[in-house]
Amino acid sequence: MLLQTVVLFLAITLSSSYDTGFNYSSFHGANLNLTGVSEVIPSGALQLTNNSQPVIGHAFYPNLLQFKNSSKGNAFSFSTAFVFAITRPIVSPGSGFAFVISPSTQFEGANSTQYLGLFNLTGNGDPENQVFAVEFDTTQNIDVGDIDGNHVGIDLNSVRSNVSASAAYYLTEDHKITKHNLSLKSEDPIQVWIEYDGTEKLLNITLSPIRIPGRTGPPLISSRVDLSPILQKYMYVGFSASTGIVASYQYILGWSFMINGRAQNLDSSDLPWYPRSKSIKGLSMVSKIGISLSSIILAIAAISVILYLVWKRTDGEIAEDWELANGPHRFSYKEIFMATKGFHEEELIGFGGFGKVYKGVMRDSGLQVAVKQVAHESEERVREFVAEISSIGKLQHRNLVRLIGWCKQKTKLIIIYEYMPHGSLDKYLFHEDGPPLSWKQRHKILKGVASALLYLHEQWEQVVIHRDVKASNVLLDAEMNARLGDFGLARLYEHGSNSQTTRVVGTIGYLAPEMSLTGKATTETDVFAYGAVLLEVASGRRPISPQRLQKQVILVDWVWECFKNGKLLDVADPRLEGCFEIEEMTMVLWLGLWCSHPVPDARPSMRQVYQYLNRDVPFPEISATKLAAPGMENFHYLAPHASSHTELSICSAGTEILLSGGR
Ligand SMILES: *[C@@H]1O[C@H](CO)[C@@H](O)[C@H](O)[C@H]1NC(C)=O
Ligand SMILES: *[C@@H]1O[C@H](CO)[C@@H](O)[C@H](O)[C@H]1NC(C)=O
Ligand SMILES: *[C@@H]1O[C@H](CO)[C@@H](O)[C@H](O)[C@H]1NC(C)=O
Ligand SMILES: *[C@@H]1O[C@H](CO)[C@@H](O)[C@H](O)[C@H]1NC(C)=O
Ligand SMILES: *[C@@H]1O[C@H](CO)[C@@H](O)[C@H](O)[C@H]1NC(C)=O
Ligand SMILES: *[C@@H]1O[C@H](CO)[C@@H](O)[C@H](O)[C@H]1NC(C)=O
Ligand SMILES: *[C@@H]1O[C@H](CO)[C@@H](O)[C@H](O)[C@H]1NC(C)=O
Ligand SMILES: *[C@@H]1O[C@H](CO)[C@@H](O)[C@H](O)[C@H]1NC(C)=O
Ligand SMILES: *[C@@H]1O[C@H](CO)[C@@H](O)[C@H](O)[C@H]1NC(C)=O
Repeated sequence: MLLQTVVLFLAITLSSSYDTGFNYSSFHGANLNLTGVSEVIPSGALQLTNNSQPVIGHAFYPNLLQFKNSSKGNAFSFSTAFVFAITRPIVSPGSGFAFVISPSTQFEGANSTQYLGLFNLTGNGDPENQVFAVEFDTTQNIDVGDIDGNHVGIDLNSVRSNVSASAAYYLTEDHKITKHNLSLKSEDPIQVWIEYDGTEKLLNITLSPIRIPGRTGPPLISSRVDLSPILQKYMYVGFSASTGIVASYQYILGWSFMINGRAQNLDSSDLPWYPRSKSIKGLSMVSKIGISLSSIILAIAAISVILYLVWKRTDGEIAEDWELANGPHRFSYKEIFMATKGFHEEELIGFGGFGKVYKGVMRDSGLQVAVKQVAHESEERVREFVAEISSIGKLQHRNLVRLIGWCKQKTKLIIIYEYMPHGSLDKYLFHEDGPPLSWKQRHKILKGVASALLYLHEQWEQVVIHRDVKASNVLLDAEMNARLGDFGLARLYEHGSNSQTTRVVGTIGYLAPEMSLTGKATTETDVFAYGAVLLEVASGRRPISPQRLQKQVILVDWVWECFKNGKLLDVADPRLEGCFEIEEMTMVLWLGLWCSHPVPDARPSMRQVYQYLNRDVPFPEISATKLAAPGMENFHYLAPHASSHTELSICSAGTEILLSGGR
């Protein structure tokens, strides 16, 4: 089959000057309205984005299509079929792409880091948008209610999907229907059918891996939705994609569209080639292309690309099978060596518990990174980590430091993170030089860390136990937002399963008492460590400070002591000079004590902590039996809301008067 242009417009209604459909089995020479980074590569595949970051790519059919008889009328039925592939993700892929029907091909002010290249924070959800989209989303953005990092959703004027489902397809065999998961970013081509019935007002979305020909079962999504309010009389159809700080190549290989009819099925043997990172599959794709001259040239080019990729991937280091799975980018030692100027002392930015941390700048992208060396781990642990890294790399939350990639040299593991310009929280809390953090900043940081832990414990597909929550692992981004970092020790568990660890890890002062007995890390041990962080941030003291007076050495004991004596606020950081909201300070200290409860089951969950800090739920009236542990005397304590309700905070410096609850 020749790889030449097959572009045919089909005008069914001769009286109308508007097209009603088209078929592309290659985009070679196609008249598309391309903006951003999108381009048609020489093979004829439409490349929406490359893996630069952050970028937007749009590709629209250049002519308007008629979707209604009149502006007030009912939308016509339509259907579209296309094949896409997402390849070579770095870390986890960007935000994915969408099939779009919109009144314009221009998206002014669209944000390239989110919103699929369609909207921005303020424009998302605006009914004026008149945009219908079906998203193929490869990241989970909990801010817009994404269900997971691999889903399909119906978007009406907003990337907050009206209906969504994890990517999957149905197979009918012997009258039995079975469901099979699909990975959008598997690098394999996936065929999609989107069909709208304007009379029934029913929208069907069907996916299928291209190796299974034709439609094999019911749609993944079959949802009643009336597109008449969204679609105007004349609209453009096309694709939109964006990449965030992490990125991937996104391709459309073929596309057909039809108003008031069924879009033509795409012939899978006829689709253009596209580069993949999995070399072996890439080769079999090439062999399918055939023997025309152009394909021979293409094959040679492809083979050199593949050889280059293989060379680049291994770069003298032997790639093992288990390393070839999808996941965060594996960098070569050479790349990392260059990025850190040969692990130069001047680039040293810290000493983690397990090794040195360097600042680096990636040659290709100019991205600033933090490079952590985890020295002399056992071979087995390195394998384990690499197996987990692809999962850990998928974690995405605004209060987590992003994992960019990794590199391995024998038993030396190197982990590459996003660079955080303001360094770690402990530096701000305990170093005398430089201005102290204000109470407002501290409170925001605590809420950020709580939000990150809540995500790890409850909101991700697996339970992630961080195991090393402490002030020096809380990093601060350019806006002084907290970003929990260092997953070097994190472990993944199935929800509802029992975690098993044999080795006690963590940091003294943050280690829950049961850890030394059972050696088992749990969500409760993370909560305990977070409790220590709460107390540190409020008091400006380390959990253990040997140089202090006997009764002040162990921070939690001292806070407990002050609490019992009704002098809780005595522990507030003197560097705050009294500038804080009493109610918030009390709540933070009180929560800190509660999280530090010696009995794991008595500690609050991260969800509770998060809700209290955000005042989503009223503070409970506490007779502090909650806080009283065996061996500690019972103590009665009134929660802040029940206390005399102080309206003004004391601010001895006189610079700031804060209204409690008000602002
Ligand atoms: C794309 O469409 C916009 C209007 O929507 C137009 O200004 C621009 O010239 C078009 N570009 C191409 C290449 O057709
Ligand atoms: C991505 O495309 C843009 C614009 O065409 C280009 O400047 C950039 O170098 C490309 N990046 C990669 C990694 O190919
Ligand atoms: C549009 O107008 C045509 C011709 O008048 C009619 O057959 C068709 O049913 C109308 N479609 C809708 C959705 O109103
Ligand atoms: C957000 O998008 C709207 C259009 O939807 C645009 O007018 C506005 O300028 C954009 N805002 C920013 C901050 O880019
Ligand atoms: C895009 O959105 C992100 C997160 O919402 C924000 O930090 C960034 O400033 C926005 N960029 C633009 C150009 O509006
Ligand atoms: C979906 O859209 C319909 C209107 O088209 C609306 O009534 C419904 O509440 C939406 N559902 C969600 C979950 O947004
Ligand atoms: C399929 O995906 C869903 C949602 O992500 C998940 O709950 C389920 O365990 C997966 N099933 C298999 C067999 O992988
Ligand atoms: C959508 O799917 C449902 C359920 O399989 C089916 O009954 C209906 O005919 C489909 N509609 C279209 C327009 O494909
Ligand atoms: C394009 O697709 C339509 C159906 O949507 C079909 O009738 C037509 O024959 C196709 N054209 C070509 C050249 O394949």
